[in-house]
Amino acid sequence: KRIIHHESIASTQTIAHDEARNNAPGGTIIIADEQTKGRGRIARNWDSSKGKGIWLSMILRPEIQPHHAPQLTLLTATVLADVLSNYVDINPKIKWPNDILMNNKKMAGILTEMQAEQDQIWYVIIGIGLNVNHSIDDLPEGLRNIATSIKMETSKEWLLKDLIQEILVTFERTYEDYLENGFSEIKQKWEGYGFKIGQEIAIKTLKEEWKAPFLGITDDGALLTKSSSGETIELYSAEIDWF
Ligand code: BTN
Repeated sequence: KRIIHHESIASTQTIAHDEARNNAPGGTIIIADEQTKGRGRIARNWDSSKGKGIWLSMILRPEIQPHHAPQLTLLTATVLADVLSNYVDINPKIKWPNDILMNNKKMAGILTEMQAEQDQIWYVIIGIGLNVNHSIDDLPEGLRNIATSIKMETSKEWLLKDLIQEILVTFERTYEDYLENGFSEIKQKWEGYGFKIGQEIAIKTLKEEWKAPFLGITDDGALLTKSSSGETIELYSAEIDWF
């Protein structure tokens, strides 16, 4: 496996795209101690201060249909949740589609990007940001109520290199199993960690607002729930009031 390490970089995600375009093989990993322009989902930024967390991007070249790529994001969320439960010994939840929460605060995020044609994936880049050794004061003020770190939840410092090793080994095992046996086991596992699964959630679309139970996820990673008139529906993106 090829691991490219940078002390300080704008974003591992950007480097991963460059490497992938230059034919880096699937399995290549870009990792940084610090990102000066860490990117989050929906054009948000991601606070990535030096030595405080795991900031990495993986290049994958899976032979799957492009519309199944969201499965890889859900898979990555279960890998992080597995490492946090089995190795760190805490009880994380996954908030649909892929935020890792502890006590209702965000500990990790996943950003998946891909280059694909109609029915072929060129490459997928999965970015993982995991808050590890932040004390509350290390978090920007605006995040203190909504974010957490492993240290904040366990009251001790963690060696980043051991955690990275756990994540990569668990990812490799889970990914190979997925390529061989498909998504159903991952889906089950995801639902086991799912935040508010089986409970009522408040849904708000452009047209209406209603409450309905969160029933589970579909093979495409959509959220399974009920419409305001009671039929089972799949949601891909909607405003959900989770708390
Ligand atoms: C989210 O919005 O929840 C996703 C956050 C993803 C952050 C990671 S850190 C490593 C990689 N490089 C980036 O610039 N972003 C991702």
